[in-house]
Amino acid sequence: MTDTEGTWHVVARDEALTEDQPLSVTLGGQRIGLYRVSGAVHAIEDVCPHAFALLSEGFVDGETVECPLHEALFHIPTGKCLREIGQRDLKTYEVKIDGGNILVRA
Ligand code: FES
Repeated sequence: MTDTEGTWHVVARDEALTEDQPLSVTLGGQRIGLYRVSGAVHAIEDVCPHAFALLSEGFVDGETVECPLHEALFHIPTGKCLREIGQRDLKTYEVKIDGGNILVRA
């Protein structure tokens, strides 16, 4: 489910996010992972729901990211949990690019 509440926050420079290296940012105490997939920027909850691991430190393969601890698998654009150990879908956040900055609504 995408969070459409809240206000926009600048979280990173657009050029700092590459296809092969996600970024992790903290907004209001929440860890959010930023990913670039086929040129588009996506923002999803960064802490794995199974235990404590940052998904942005996991393994990205196309549109999916695998948790570095126990291999939960998530679809980056939708946050959908693709392997049961992940326990639930991830929260996703609205993203926009403005003036070379990545903004996330949270
Ligand atoms: S902490 Fe992510 S699968 Fe266990």
